[in-house]
Amino acid sequence: MSMNLVTLLYLIASVCFIQALKGLSHPTTSIRGNLFGMSGMAVATLTTAALIVQIAGGHIVGVAWVLLGLLVGGTAGAIMARRVEMAKMPELVAFMHSMIGLAAVFIAVAAVAEPWAFRIVGHGEAIPGGNRVELALGAFIGAVTFSGSVIAFGKLSGRYKFRLFQGAPVQFAGQHPLNLILGIIAAVFCFAFWHTQSWMDVMLVIMLGFALGVLLIIPIGGADMPVVVSMLNSYSGWAAAGIGFSLNNAMLIIAGSLVGSSGAILSYIMCRAMNRSFFNVILGGFGGEVGTQALGAQQQRNVKSGSADDAAFVLSNAETVVIVPGYGLAVARAQHAVKELATKLTEKGITVKYAIHPVAGRMPGHMNVLLAEAEVPYDQVFEMEDINGDFGQADVAIILGANDVVNPAAHNKGSPIYGMPILEAYKAKTVIVNKRSMAAGYAGLDNDLFYMDKTMMVFGDAKKVVEEMGKAIE
Ligand code: TAP
Repeated sequence: MSMNLVTLLYLIASVCFIQALKGLSHPTTSIRGNLFGMSGMAVATLTTAALIVQIAGGHIVGVAWVLLGLLVGGTAGAIMARRVEMAKMPELVAFMHSMIGLAAVFIAVAAVAEPWAFRIVGHGEAIPGGNRVELALGAFIGAVTFSGSVIAFGKLSGRYKFRLFQGAPVQFAGQHPLNLILGIIAAVFCFAFWHTQSWMDVMLVIMLGFALGVLLIIPIGGADMPVVVSMLNSYSGWAAAGIGFSLNNAMLIIAGSLVGSSGAILSYIMCRAMNRSFFNVILGGFGGEVGTQALGAQQQRNVKSGSADDAAFVLSNAETVVIVPGYGLAVARAQHAVKELATKLTEKGITVKYAIHPVAGRMPGHMNVLLAEAEVPYDQVFEMEDINGDFGQADVAIILGANDVVNPAAHNKGSPIYGMPILEAYKAKTVIVNKRSMAAGYAGLDNDLFYMDKTMMVFGDAKKVVEEMGKAIE
């Protein structure tokens, strides 16, 4: 296989990745986008495997290791992707980022140990200074990505008692100056490696990267994990691109840069959706003790509650209904029941629209994916900026398992979510809220919307309640 052919195949894979990103920007084209991404990854992986086989020549053991890696990694990935529930997807993504970070560390270590095997230099020659800095930087970013993603995984799963895996931020005095100092020391060792090519320098850089990854993520509260996951996504891309420069591998440079920049843009979009600055998010502390304060306050307040039949009656008499899906809808897997309910309402001549908040659920596009799975027509689904003007004219806003994304506390100065744009469901003539209890949402805050005179709470699991509503509407 000539290097020209390899470059051409890498170029084809890169074009596929760009088409994948373009396709994934809208639900109607997302399947095509995924197909492009899968094709690009298949071309890139098979080309690299063929290249390795060619370089290995008759070294059958080396080739066997590569094939074994492809088999084990590919099988594990396929099994995990098939098994994972939609609501657990962010954890899977965090886990995958951790693997990319670790891979960057391993590649850098292997390249420092045997640079001639990667064709960086001839056998027995020293690595040029510039390549050493690239390798050290790639290893450092990879190490930060690995340990940071492990913490993000723990915080997202919420299954572990270990304090660092809890959603509440872990903060201590001097935390940010310490991070800065560790970052500066790592930079010093990166440049020291330029001159010395000493194992100690590169190992210290990696250790500092592992420590910094943990320290950077622990002060960030659970509510900000979506931004963290996409930020780590960005880091994993830059780590791959850094290593790509050292290995002179165009595929790693292009794919790494695409992942790095798209992750950074997604982080920016999410910060804007929460009206927070990127630095405010990564400096952490958000979503700390507010949950307990809210719990204390909510016990003294009364709410109006009704049954699924009451809600069905209100819905049947409306002309316009806006459905607001949230995390609870995903947990209950109620998307098909909601689609059936909406179809019944539409058949009665009622206008039904879905309102999607950019950070509803637990991952970017979570609600869009759920509604697409239930084959909800795309022309009924509206993004926040397009639907907010409609709530004032809506007869009913029905909130299904959503909480933070409709919390008017976002308008109150002093609230931890002050400034976060919300779906303005409180403006509808009647508000129906379905959730199981008065428990707080992800940000741990009480929600004034639930106590308004025009609000009817319908308690219960979203799937069960929505099915009952559907049955009651004939
Ligand atoms: P949340 O504020 O988390 O509220 C979800 C509500 O669903 C809870 O109050 C819960 O109340 C209810 N619920 C849970 N299970 C239910 C079930 N089986 N049936 C009915 N209700 C159920 O959700 P949201 O409004 O979608 O807001 C998302 C939050 O997650 C934001 O704070 C956001 O920043 C954060 N977040 C977002 C992402 C992304 S990228 N989307 C990722 C991570 C975190 P009960 O327990 O009383 O039922």
